[in-house]
Amino acid sequence: MRLEKYQSIIGGRLKHSGHDYVELANQYGTPLYIFDEASFRERILAYREAVKSTYFETDVLFASKALLTKAVARIIAELDIGQDVVSAGEIYTGVRHGVDPKRMYFHGNNKLNKEIRYAIDNRVGTIVVDNRMEVERISKIAAEFETKQRVLLRLNPGVEAHTHEYIMTANLDSKFGESVFDPEIYNIIQSMVVSPHLEFAGFHSHIGSQIFEADSFYKAASELLTFSAEVQKRLGILISEINFGGGFGVYYTQEDQPFDVIDFLPDFMEYVHQEAQALAIDLKKVTIEPGRSLVNASGSTLYEVGDLKHTASGKDYAFVDGSMNDNIRPALYQAKYEALAVNKADKPQEKVYTIAGKACESGDKIIEEIKLPILETGDLLLVNGTGAYNYSMASNYNRIPRPAMIHVNDEKHYLTVKRESFEEMSLREI
Ligand code: LLP
Repeated sequence: MRLEKYQSIIGGRLKHSGHDYVELANQYGTPLYIFDEASFRERILAYREAVKSTYFETDVLFASKALLTKAVARIIAELDIGQDVVSAGEIYTGVRHGVDPKRMYFHGNNKLNKEIRYAIDNRVGTIVVDNRMEVERISKIAAEFETKQRVLLRLNPGVEAHTHEYIMTANLDSKFGESVFDPEIYNIIQSMVVSPHLEFAGFHSHIGSQIFEADSFYKAASELLTFSAEVQKRLGILISEINFGGGFGVYYTQEDQPFDVIDFLPDFMEYVHQEAQALAIDLKKVTIEPGRSLVNASGSTLYEVGDLKHTASGKDYAFVDGSMNDNIRPALYQAKYEALAVNKADKPQEKVYTIAGKACESGDKIIEEIKLPILETGDLLLVNGTGAYNYSMASNYNRIPRPAMIHVNDEKHYLTVKRESFEEMSLREI
């Protein structure tokens, strides 16, 4: 397993900022989400610096669908970045724990009326309109509040990004956004411009997630800016903000070769400025919405090994006390991970295991075939790169309580999410 910079092997044991994982397991139990707060904070500050431009205002909006807890919301608030929210629940958590609602961008196809009301009532700064029907719904609700709601329109620029490549498609069948190729697109924008209850500011696009090609972002920027220039010309309006979404790829295994976002951002911002200037677009604000790349490398999950099984066909399983309940990504996306036996960190990796969870589902495997030292019941396995979309997608399948989460901030560590109890699992049931 590739170690993060807060991890080191000392005396045969893996440590996290000097803390022994075995002791963390003894203190907090397993399975345990461990979140390195120090590196998360560092990355936020670095992103904030890297997007800064002398030409326009910039903001980093943390895509909180990747990981949102009260503790995370408090860090977002303290470090003064914005928040991408996709539900009233995310707005609630952010606002309740100090995030400035003006810095929130509310996304989502099929935002419910009650969510739009909640957003406007809570003074959410920008709503990103997903489709044409939403224009009227937001206008109407903003009218009820006698306000003018700032909005962007989510565009589908026809650049669909995939791992290691981008494919140009018309993308006319996407569930998200309105396509720049739709003949109705100018009418949709016009309806936003003329609404007395909307302040139309510009466009948003999010071309995908876990993208490894920086070129895809340049391509999307070029398409969006060209389209913006056309809109300015046809409708006689000014485009003042573009939000380029998130999607920067991260390392899970050796198969992944992400680009360095901190290096990329200043160049990208410069490119956006140059292109905008060439097309006579007077951009006032440029925003990005990273989720995974801000949190993933700060998160890991600690499991205890239970039974070991050698199948008749010759496969070796190591069962852990977690499951697809705490990490659905392998089952859902064939996602791959690396792991390390923290109490055998210096032992030779001599046996191939499949790490499987305890849920009633054959697909509940956390890692298919990984070389590890000879494992025994009671060993502790750490899986890195679980900061994004693990806790936020966790479930109670099989009535398995969700794990606790701790933050490690250099010499300190503390509980940020309690381990779920049986009572808590059935709290809402009557
Ligand atoms: N902005 C918008 C509008 C998005 O839809 C997303 C992610 C992001 C930003 C953040 O993207 P990121 O920087 O995290 O790649 N559950 C999946 C990922 C779903 C991403 C959905 N949208 C997974 O576990 O891989």
